Amino acid sequence: MTKEQLIKLENTPKEIMKIYQYIKSFNLNYPNYNAWVEKCKKELESNYKKAHYYTRNSDILGIIIFQPHKKEKNILEIKNFGVSSPNKKKGVGSILYDSVEQYAKKQKFKKIQIDTHDNEMIDFLLKKGFKIMKKEALYSSSQIETILQKNFKNRN
Ligand SMILES: CC(C)(COP(=O)(O)OP(=O)(O)OC[C@H]1O[C@@H](n2cnc3c(N)ncnc32)[C@H](O)[C@@H]1OP(=O)(O)O)[C@@H](O)C(=O)NCCC(=O)NCCS
Repeated sequence: MTKEQLIKLENTPKEIMKIYQYIKSFNLNYPNYNAWVEKCKKELESNYKKAHYYTRNSDILGIIIFQPHKKEKNILEIKNFGVSSPNKKKGVGSILYDSVEQYAKKQKFKKIQIDTHDNEMIDFLLKKGFKIMKKEALYSSSQIETILQKNFKNRN
């Protein structure tokens, strides 16, 4: 029988290794992505970064990795969010995003922020209530990133 579930990282070495191998296998169009993946593993180990992921049997279908914003304490920042291609448009991205929004509200963050250059992601976030704040070349002079935020003020 197929078993699908949302998993909130418990921080065990085995789980972190599984996430590490999954994010390493992405072919993301970011400079120094491999160095970021190594740093990410260390920050998951120290519990600075957290991850929720969605599995079918034991395979990861999608992941969302987040941390407090480095400069602004009220902001929870999503650092990596993706659903593997064959599993898109089946609700997995929404389950992952909703679980992080719930976490952010519970932890009294006021906003969620994410930057991306992926149009599919921008469309998804706009439907979830995000607003575009600015566009900036954050990682490479040839690639403009869109910075989006969702503000919880005056919301339940
Ligand atoms: C953006 C992203 C996370 C969305 O994930 P997803 O799992 O496809 O999202 P969902 O399935 O929850 O929602 C997407 C759409 O599928 C629809 N959908 C959800 N469940 C569905 C189902 N069972 N059947 C049909 N459609 C469904 C949703 O209504 C939504 O439709 P809409 O866009 O018309 O509103 C995913 O497309 C992705 O990973 N993109 C690439 C991201 C990337 O580049 N990441 C790296 C930088 S951070």
